[in-house]
Amino acid sequence: MSDPIEINPISDACGAEISGVDLSKPLGNEKFAAVHQALLDHQVIFFRDQDLTPEQQVEFSRRFGELRISEQYESLEGYPEIIEIVKEPDSTGIVGNLWHSDESFLPQPALGSLLYILESPEVGGDTMFANQYLAYEALSPGMQEMLLGLNAVHSDASLQKRNAGRALRVKAGAEDRGVFEATHPVVRTHPETGRKSLFVHRPYTIRFENMTVEESAPLLSFLYAHSARPEFTCRFRWQEGSLAFWDNRCLQHYALNDYSGVRRYGHRVTVVGDTPR
Ligand SMILES: [Fe+2]
Repeated sequence: MSDPIEINPISDACGAEISGVDLSKPLGNEKFAAVHQALLDHQVIFFRDQDLTPEQQVEFSRRFGELRISEQYESLEGYPEIIEIVKEPDSTGIVGNLWHSDESFLPQPALGSLLYILESPEVGGDTMFANQYLAYEALSPGMQEMLLGLNAVHSDASLQKRNAGRALRVKAGAEDRGVFEATHPVVRTHPETGRKSLFVHRPYTIRFENMTVEESAPLLSFLYAHSARPEFTCRFRWQEGSLAFWDNRCLQHYALNDYSGVRRYGHRVTVVGDTPR
């Protein structure tokens, strides 16, 4: 008889820790359904004390959809679906310390990201998450209505600049391929929950469709500040063996770069999502 599954929210806005699940073993349909529902209910779910091989992480991730083979980063040798998230003791920069949603510059951005941490500083290196359903719902009816009619252009040009000098291994030739750009609704509807969420992100959203960068900047600046209000967030403290699975369709996240002299290392898998609508 396996342990019962327990789901404990870590903030009122989003995020829940799940216990009673061993991700190294195939989950039965009932347990899998409970995990899937927890993701939809809490937007990001956390598992602690997992002991996972790369195969087992890929196997679990694949149950949520097709996995991305990154065009940007080198994969873990032998595992094209896994990219290594690494900060060496002597490096100072990371790429994730801006509020963002993974891959929003692609036509079909990430459904979710699964990060499994194998080496972690004792203190520091937390990740924050912000619930973008709440961000949308907290806007005035007038602003909501206006945003519902807008699309925005997302680009990875700034990410390419930020990659320079970071420990992430950029694929040979990735700099030469030009920028990825995609246009998405500013308010998207989650394909599984039917809820509306705000979908603009400081590093990637460059302007509203049919508007200039300058014209777009004031309203985008307001939305960036609004979308990360503390009331919408949770904060996760990692340990070795922690795995976080976040839903990029309705969340933004921020990796804190508040530690140095210590190595942080993990494996990330990305599930391909749908076209935002
Ligand atoms: Fe990220």
